[in-house]
Amino acid sequence: MNHDNIVVTTTKPREHLIEIARLISEEINIPYLVKGNLSMAKFMETNNLTDVIAVREDRIQIISENGEFFFHPGLAIPRIKNYKKTRYDTMIEAMQLQPSDVLLDCTLGLANDAIVANFILKDKGELVGIESSPLIYAITKWGLKKYSRGSKATQESMQNIIVKNENYDTYLKKLPSKSVDIIYFDPMFNKPLYKSNGICGLRNFANYQQLDQSTIDLALKIARKRVVFKDRSNSSNFGKLNVDEIVGGKYSPVAYGVFIC
Ligand SMILES: C[S@@+](CC[C@H](N)C(=O)[O-])C[C@H]1O[C@@H](n2cnc3c(N)ncnc32)[C@H](O)[C@@H]1O
Repeated sequence: MNHDNIVVTTTKPREHLIEIARLISEEINIPYLVKGNLSMAKFMETNNLTDVIAVREDRIQIISENGEFFFHPGLAIPRIKNYKKTRYDTMIEAMQLQPSDVLLDCTLGLANDAIVANFILKDKGELVGIESSPLIYAITKWGLKKYSRGSKATQESMQNIIVKNENYDTYLKKLPSKSVDIIYFDPMFNKPLYKSNGICGLRNFANYQQLDQSTIDLALKIARKRVVFKDRSNSSNFGKLNVDEIVGGKYSPVAYGVFIC
């Protein structure tokens, strides 16, 4: 899919929306264009646009010929609720995440996993999320800032995630050895696991890079404790990448491959 003709605009000419639109325009290097009184369809047609990032009062969304895509925390909120009750989440178990850990999420996406992880870290640890797609980066960064539902603790778990628009290959190369505790990867599946899942909107804009041995080797130099990746439970990657442990997958279509440093 071609995303060459993309701009950011606001749905209403309000100063605080214009300010966010201008920041997004600068951050991901796309033009800011005033929509004026045109309908969104007419605005897109007149300017020959394939996609628009629309800054609205309640949310920031991408409008494209395939529909709309916006930030939502997906299963993060029920997972946090469940964790509070049971003290168990398979991803947290695979990471052996401790509140004071520094966690690097190399494939942030809509930050659903990151929100759950950051609930454990609260303000004791640190979570940096890397997303290479500029559009997903913008939607997630501003979505995490603006989301106003859920408990105060969940909102706080969203607000202090540090979001960066980079490719993990370039980002990892800049990090000193043993500088973070845990490194996490959740690459795109080539075929979606759940058709109705929120990840569907993201699929049009995502990077489909797959994990390889050289990335795992580099991550193992940078991590102090663990490198963890998510994959289908029946994936051949667990064997190919020679994991130390597989967590989950017995009753679930996904499992976590763990490398212990
Ligand atoms: C399956 S999604 C991650 C979903 C995320 N764990 C969540 O809970 O919302 C994978 C994301 O990683 C991003 N990605 C893939 N390869 C990347 C790379 N090399 N560097 C940074 N981000 C990457 C994709 O664009 C996509 O948004």
